[in-house]
Amino acid sequence: MSFKFNFSSGDKNSPEPDESSKQMEYAKCECTEVIPNIKLDLNNLAGKVKMFVCGDLEIGHVAAKEAMLQIGTVDNDLQNAIELAEKKHSDLEPGKYEGGLKIWECTSDLLSYLIPNPDDINYETAKVMDLGCGAGILGIYAFMSGARVTFQDYNKEVLKFLTIPNVLLNIDDCENCQDIKNCKFYSGDWESFNMKLGDGELYDVILTSETIYNPANYSKLVQLFIQRLTKDGIAYVAAKTYYFGVGGGMRQFETEVTNSGMLKCVVCWKSQNTEGIQREILKVTRNDIFVIE
Ligand SMILES: C[S@@+](CC[C@H](N)C(=O)[O-])C[C@H]1O[C@@H](n2cnc3c(N)ncnc32)[C@H](O)[C@@H]1O
Repeated sequence: MSFKFNFSSGDKNSPEPDESSKQMEYAKCECTEVIPNIKLDLNNLAGKVKMFVCGDLEIGHVAAKEAMLQIGTVDNDLQNAIELAEKKHSDLEPGKYEGGLKIWECTSDLLSYLIPNPDDINYETAKVMDLGCGAGILGIYAFMSGARVTFQDYNKEVLKFLTIPNVLLNIDDCENCQDIKNCKFYSGDWESFNMKLGDGELYDVILTSETIYNPANYSKLVQLFIQRLTKDGIAYVAAKTYYFGVGGGMRQFETEVTNSGMLKCVVCWKSQNTEGIQREILKVTRNDIFVIE
């Protein structure tokens, strides 16, 4: 999936909102827990399901077009925002729709990195967060490996019509789909999401792909890592080295992480392409001096 982010439309009739009004838009998107409907009729999805493949791993997921049709039945504003994003080839509308219907290419990078399990993560005992999950492919991988998973996306309709059906589609024996009780789903802006989680709500692993394109949101992500990682927890950030048109990228995010004083980070994977946009995975852990026993 290509990354366009053609933010500067140059169209004087539709000026881009400035940063403070965008932040107000984000602040309005309060966190809510979305409870899965386990009676979802998966038979209705027959023929509308696609397969995400990464090496030997196969994850079934609802086609973006189908989820979009469902969203159109309940939320016209969001449908319009998605259509506008498509028309402008921008892939998202900041503060309204953040690109959750697509599966972005850094998701494949992170899965390819995680599958050989270089850090010996024990998913059976791990609590995992898929932050900015969209289709939820990363979280579903962790869930299929035995983890308890919290999925978070900006748009609750994305969770309802895409992420949750995708989790259900990948439960082997879906007689009553009770296994989904090992998952939680939250919509809303990262700041509000962090406030909604209880004090002791900590995660061994935070997975996040293509979520650092907007530097205005970096402090929210860093705060989430600081407040939500366990003592030995690891956050993996898969992203482009640089996001043309918006200014965000790995070096700027790395600086924000390091400047927090509480976290440290290392690039654990880099794409080998000599042409086109480079991609990376950043591994973020707690700074040893700030680990309180
Ligand atoms: C480009 S999509 C990536 C989706 C998915 N991780 C992938 O790689 O396919 C960015 C995701 O980040 C989330 N996101 C972006 N800004 C956010 C914000 N301010 N608060 C909460 N979520 C946000 C959206 O939910 C969206 O799904």
